[in-house]
Amino acid sequence: MTSWDPLGPFQPGAGGMPPYLAGREVEQGHFRALLSRLRDRGPLPAEVILYGPRGNGKTALLGWLESAAADVECVETLVLLPSEVPSAVRLSELVAPQSWWDRFTPEEVAGFGISWRPGKTGAPPAVDRILAARARRSPLLLIMDEAHTLDLAVGRALVNASQRVRQRHPFLLVLAGTPNIEGHLNAMGASFWSRSEQLRIGRLDGSATREALVRPFTAHGVPVAEAVVTEVERLSHGYPFFIQVLGDLLWKNAAPPGGPGRVTMGVLEAALPGFEDRKGHYYRQRYEELRKRELLQVARSVAAVFQSSGFLNHSEVEAAIRTGLGTTDAAAGRAAEGALSDLGFIWGTSPMPGWEPGIPSLMDYILEFAPAE
Ligand SMILES: Nc1ncnc2c1ncn2[C@@H]1O[C@H](COP(=O)(O)OP(=O)(O)O)[C@@H](O)[C@H]1O
Ligand SMILES: [Mg+2]
Repeated sequence: MTSWDPLGPFQPGAGGMPPYLAGREVEQGHFRALLSRLRDRGPLPAEVILYGPRGNGKTALLGWLESAAADVECVETLVLLPSEVPSAVRLSELVAPQSWWDRFTPEEVAGFGISWRPGKTGAPPAVDRILAARARRSPLLLIMDEAHTLDLAVGRALVNASQRVRQRHPFLLVLAGTPNIEGHLNAMGASFWSRSEQLRIGRLDGSATREALVRPFTAHGVPVAEAVVTEVERLSHGYPFFIQVLGDLLWKNAAPPGGPGRVTMGVLEAALPGFEDRKGHYYRQRYEELRKRELLQVARSVAAVFQSSGFLNHSEVEAAIRTGLGTTDAAAGRAAEGALSDLGFIWGTSPMPGWEPGIPSLMDYILEFAPAE
């Protein structure tokens, strides 16, 4: 018996934990191994950085990591956002919260050589000393999402502390951000990016797209027609956000008494106007971002060359950018390329160097609506 919760299981919003986290088995397996290593107080090989364009599931994977860590004995988890840490002092305060101090007697704290208390005057200890003190007591996982927006001085303090603490104590730092996180971390100095371990979080492949859609329905005993699954693969391009939007609309259109209680092609047809609407609103926001940065012409020119291929090499994209900019100035070209990548309009491929569209159908939208001038 299916229970048709009117809200349904899908999570079509930023940061929403999907009902089934599909296609991240490799990353999950790797994180499980790192958590075991952390629990066993073994040395951690490197910091981990998740990067990829918006909407691909970085926050969802971090959410999974947080709950996986909660199941591992002894491991403590700290979750911080860049907006919470505008300064290095605030970083120290947050990694050593009041509750931490309450658990220690002043003598114990003094044993770490720490005499400062939050809220009192005087400079707090450097963040590496606090992290070392914590990690010495229990293995510590520190998760930070949106790290491409982290204040540079705070970031420098954090990554330096991580590299120092990790060598002697069970400590793991996991950062996530959009592709420009590489440039942002490089701007913090040191060779942090190249020494860290990077996990690319891109669109889902065909079989993961199917699982993301079908599993939540089958978990509720709702059958999904094969033709619908094929269409969802095509319409979503494996973009996780769109899979959730489509799943959500299919659920609502299949729900009795209005719907047939299973996901048929008729249900998909009924869901399509809603999907076009959601997608249109989403693309409208992407359009505005490009417009504000005066990148519409460049985006249009890049979109035009992507019509012939889903993959372009660097010189093809550079040529399209030059056409769109109307200049051969190399610095302007590089800046535009970086901005298109930051916005997730284009996504650097790996291991083959080149570019693919962040979301293929956004290219069509730009070709349709960006002024041709
Ligand atoms: N592996 C996945 N399988 C299915 N849906 C996912 C997956 N990862 C993310 N999603 C969904 O995609 C959308 C965007 O995910 P989110 O984690 O916010 O992306 P990001 O943080 O990269 O911008 C959300 O609706 C989320 O539920
Ligand atoms: Mg996110």
